[in-house]
Amino acid sequence: MNVSDDALDVTETPAPDETWAVGQDDSVRPRTLDDFIGQNELRANLRVYIGAAVERGKALDHTLFYGNPGLGKTTLARIMASEMGVNLVCTSGPVLERSGDLAAILTSLGSRDMLFVDEIHRMPVAVEEVLYPAMEDFRLDLVVGQGPAARTVSIALEPFTLIGATTRMGLISSPLRDRFGIVTRLEYYNPQDLAKIVRRTAHILSVDVTPEGAEEIGRRSRGTPRIANRLLRRVRDFALMRGNGKVTAEEAASALARMDVDEHGLDQMDRKLLEILIKHYEGGPVGVKTLAVACSEEVRTIEDIYEPYLIQCGFLKRTPRGRMATPLAYEILGMPA
Ligand SMILES: Nc1ncnc2c1ncn2[C@@H]1O[C@H](COP(=O)(O)OP(=O)(O)OP(=O)(O)O)[C@@H](O)[C@H]1O
Ligand SMILES: [Mg+2]
Repeated sequence: MNVSDDALDVTETPAPDETWAVGQDDSVRPRTLDDFIGQNELRANLRVYIGAAVERGKALDHTLFYGNPGLGKTTLARIMASEMGVNLVCTSGPVLERSGDLAAILTSLGSRDMLFVDEIHRMPVAVEEVLYPAMEDFRLDLVVGQGPAARTVSIALEPFTLIGATTRMGLISSPLRDRFGIVTRLEYYNPQDLAKIVRRTAHILSVDVTPEGAEEIGRRSRGTPRIANRLLRRVRDFALMRGNGKVTAEEAASALARMDVDEHGLDQMDRKLLEILIKHYEGGPVGVKTLAVACSEEVRTIEDIYEPYLIQCGFLKRTPRGRMATPLAYEILGMPA
């Protein structure tokens, strides 16, 4: 790779202690593994890996988290750094435009520090290639100068841990994937864990929620903590403006109905997608691009946000010839199969 001087003064990364304080999600973000609800197997495994790395005094193996948006990838990266007691530098794939950007960040890392690369599947190929020797041998290979005077300089890096996060495992090249020692998938949360998350968030935000109220919100959160927290905030608003502010099951149900979130957690867009599939295309199969045009949505949004949950619930099927509505989808929409 070729690094010019100005390529090296690069990407703004927040200082490690600032990383806790960005955005409104942050007050409710769990900060320790004990605080992190659900994903029990994954959590138990991480505890072992972190404990062992601390015991050996070594950097943790490079770790890749994949899973749908809002399931806790960023949260886990922060928890891991704080449990290891090391600095965390955050950046993301699309921000790393040139290989020099990454080189500058890598050389700034201290021993055992962690580098979090969000949306790692969107990192340019040239940048990705700089990562290979860095991950494998903690070494940077730089080409200095141009033409016949060009020579390669190898720079030693401190041992560090790369934490990658992606919503699209399929878009990660296999050489990159193979260099991660720990690869873990985050699953959708079950309604019980989501109810616990709602109760925890309610406690932090001083919202009075009954156990049934929390369950109602948990059940309608599409298996996703971020959505659970968002729905709780909105339900709180309704409860405050209409009643005494207490979030009961009835209060939650009526507020969620007003927000067009049905009892399966489907919103307007989910139902529109299924309806179009059934009414316009006889239930499919139909290609995702056609579906995206019909719904006036982007293909990526459908693939990343809507589809995974509809598939998980058994309302939609992915076939080689396109998307198909299942009998269950006809049933919940009240349409004859
Ligand atoms: N296991 C959990 N327990 C409690 N809260 C959680 C948990 N997982 C996630 N959250 C909450 O959900 C929010 C979203 O999590 P996070 O930002 O880590 O998701 P993400 O997987 O990084 O999403 P994206 O792919 O969009 O970046 C956080 O603010 C956090 O408060
Ligand atoms: Mg994230």
